[in-house]
Amino acid sequence: MLYVAAAVLVALTLAFLLVRQKVRTDGKWALWWHDNLNERFQDFVTGRTRPERLLQYLQKNGTRGDANNVVDTIDRFCGTVEWAMNVGGEKGKIVDKVVLETNPGTVLELGTYCGYSAVRMGRLLAPGSRLITLEMNPAYAKVAKEVIAFAGLDKQVEVLVGSTTELIPQLKKKLDIDTFDMIFLDHWKQSYLPDTKLLEECGLLRKGTVLLADNVICPGTPDYLQYVRSSPKYLSQHFPSVLEYTNAPDGLEKSVYLG
Ligand SMILES: C[S@@+](CC[C@H](N)C(=O)[O-])C[C@H]1O[C@@H](n2cnc3c(N)ncnc32)[C@H](O)[C@@H]1O
Repeated sequence: MLYVAAAVLVALTLAFLLVRQKVRTDGKWALWWHDNLNERFQDFVTGRTRPERLLQYLQKNGTRGDANNVVDTIDRFCGTVEWAMNVGGEKGKIVDKVVLETNPGTVLELGTYCGYSAVRMGRLLAPGSRLITLEMNPAYAKVAKEVIAFAGLDKQVEVLVGSTTELIPQLKKKLDIDTFDMIFLDHWKQSYLPDTKLLEECGLLRKGTVLLADNVICPGTPDYLQYVRSSPKYLSQHFPSVLEYTNAPDGLEKSVYLG
């Protein structure tokens, strides 16, 4: 009887270690665990959504008006308390580098979620620059607005609520912006390609506009990658990295629109 109990314990421990290792290093396992099981479980236990828990942690532990601290505090929450689908610290450093090199006057982000990347990019913009971020989930947008205001960036960063398909054709009129200098694509992956074509059709790209696309490896955007890498309209460069808050392979694709 004792041997059976010991064998079961060893088997359970090995299974636990195997799953933990997979969740850390394999993107499919990581997303299944963090984005499915754990999020539902935490929502059930706390009676709050993940974005609400993230905001609560930030309000309790962050420094109001300090955008760098907001980025670090959210990274700490996601690294030690609960994973979330922000671009994260590792890929975030690449985003920072591209923003600083591009020095954009106008930035469009597709997919706001809790506002992490909006704060991350917004804190690096020159005075007078604008970042417009589009989010179709009103509850996420509400949290993002609070996060952005907490970081002190609500004058520079504007959240528009709605789907990209509906909003992109309205942007010129709505914002009085002719073209964007930089576009960060980080919404649902199957929308990258149709939305890029929509941005082209709506005349929102100019020669030199920088498109930076997240998660091109995990979950992956094969049709988008094929398009920007083979089209003569783009000059593309890949930046290998890891999926946010894990060691699973992921990457960003920077594509300069050549007109
Ligand atoms: C990966 S999260 C964005 C993370 C965020 N950029 C960051 O790094 O902090 C993707 C977000 O895109 C939103 N989204 C997905 N498809 C969209 C669409 N077609 N239009 C607007 N928002 C969309 C989702 O609701 C979700 O909040």
